[in-house]
Amino acid sequence: MAERYDVIVIGSGPGGYVCAIKAAQLGLKVAVVEKMKTYGGTCLNIGCIPSKALLHASERFEEVGHLEKLGVKVGSVSLDLPAMLAHKDATVKSNVDGVAFLFKKNKITGYTGSGRIDAPGKVTVTREDGSSETIEGSSIVIATGSDSAPLPGVHVDEQRVVSSTGALALPKVPGKLVVVGAGVIGLELGSVWRRVGADVTVVEFLDRILPGMDGEVAKQTQRLLEKQGIKFRLGTKVTAVDVTGKTSKVTIEPAKAGEAAAETLDADIVLVAIGRRPYTEGLGLEGVGVALDERKRVKVDAHYQTNVSGIYAIGDVIAGPMLAHKAEDEGVALAEILAGQAGHVNYGAIPAVVYTSPEVASVGKTEEELKAAGIEYKVGKFPFSANGRARAMLATDGFVKILSDKTTDRVLGGHIVGTGAGEMIHEIVVLMEFAGSAEDLGRTTHAHPTMSEAVKEAALAAWTKPIHL
Ligand code: FAD
Ligand code: NAI
Repeated sequence: MAERYDVIVIGSGPGGYVCAIKAAQLGLKVAVVEKMKTYGGTCLNIGCIPSKALLHASERFEEVGHLEKLGVKVGSVSLDLPAMLAHKDATVKSNVDGVAFLFKKNKITGYTGSGRIDAPGKVTVTREDGSSETIEGSSIVIATGSDSAPLPGVHVDEQRVVSSTGALALPKVPGKLVVVGAGVIGLELGSVWRRVGADVTVVEFLDRILPGMDGEVAKQTQRLLEKQGIKFRLGTKVTAVDVTGKTSKVTIEPAKAGEAAAETLDADIVLVAIGRRPYTEGLGLEGVGVALDERKRVKVDAHYQTNVSGIYAIGDVIAGPMLAHKAEDEGVALAEILAGQAGHVNYGAIPAVVYTSPEVASVGKTEEELKAAGIEYKVGKFPFSANGRARAMLATDGFVKILSDKTTDRVLGGHIVGTGAGEMIHEIVVLMEFAGSAEDLGRTTHAHPTMSEAVKEAALAAWTKPIHL
């Protein structure tokens, strides 16, 4: 007889593994089906974690060269790329092992193999050797995530034309790296390789970088990255990559047809980072009648249930930002719902962080979104150049921007470019969770001297006046 569970989760990324742990903590009998050899999904194996390991290591490598300004003389600095990659691999291993440990601790049964939904309540797991077994569960959770979107006409071989996965494991520093897409992956991995010596050009279809982020923040970020040596070709598209020669030839054209003629860029490596698409291959969704939306994402209701009773979906495979913490929080909310509780995610207060140097962090509405919605708002801005701690740390690049409702003073959005932005953003996230005002934030005591005082000053600027500007 097939093994029976309360919940079968397909996919062990941040959505799936967190949902599984929470459901087990709430007393449900849980199985997880994962086709990779390790748990943790894109994020832990080939996404968030390895990229942050390389971002940290490469940032330290570059930083050493600038320590003289602080009176610290360092001898000659050299790169040991294999050691840097080994640090990344060790970081991944400790994280994925951590998930396996948590599964054991929470008595979650793991199945290694590809999961396919045969019918509501029935999942067949097919192992690499072709053998299979069927398991049964009252609820099935689709948490199969996403994979990188292809660029029409360009073949990703993961050697010379790579996705983020290949770009996390280049065996040597490319002389010239052409990045297609000025989104989060392009800027993060472009930064990694520039810091260790690559000449980086980012080709972006739109006339701005980081679409979706506040426009002023994106402009400032572009300026700072250009100062570091990254070149941008905005309003430009890649139409072909020729890999027949020793150096690849990347054909670019203006995004708008009818403008100047095509050009070619030389590249040792081309990184294609033009977005990610939901991954539902081999899941058997058509057979069971699970509906997808116009972008091939699994359609769910407010309780993450698909149109088929007992089949749910969370994370990158459904609508919303493709972020690990969004997937995790959906995992928790769904586990609570399955256990008969009231699970909920506040989609208005999900932070987003780009881990460049300096970092870029954002929560809530951008100015563009507020304008489009016709909401009257106040802007409070404070530059890190006016912050004492930032001066002491030579970290004066960037600013904090708080957007608040003109009438009620409620904070509607927060945007930070600056060292540590990804940590600082969370006080604005918490404030927004509690529907706080710019005055609330401006009256909250912040330790001195900290970078976070700039957040308080920006709130003061939105509510009344900053002190130090
Ligand atoms: P995934 O993590 O994609 O996990 C899905 C899992 O399902 C995979 O393990 C897959 O093997 C498995 N699977 C798929 N189909 C089947 C099947 N039929 N049977 C069994 N298993 C199956 N987000 C952030 O918030 N912060 C970051 O810093 C960040 N950095 C990133 C860097 C890179 C380079 C990339 C590519 C992504 C990054 N992301 C980041 C995005 C983040 O990785 C995703 O949002 C997150 O992993 C989504 O989680 P998920 O659980 O929905 O899916
Ligand atoms: P993205 O959506 O962030 O950026 C893709 C960029 O490519 C956009 O600027 C888009 O305009 C551009 N583009 C699209 N087609 C193009 C073309 N043909 N030619 C040139 N440019 C083109 O996608 P990205 O960077 O691939 O990341 C995928 C997802 O992974 C994102 O949704 C992000 O949320 C997640 N991620 C999150 C990270 C974080 O939170 N720090 C880090 C890395 C990824």
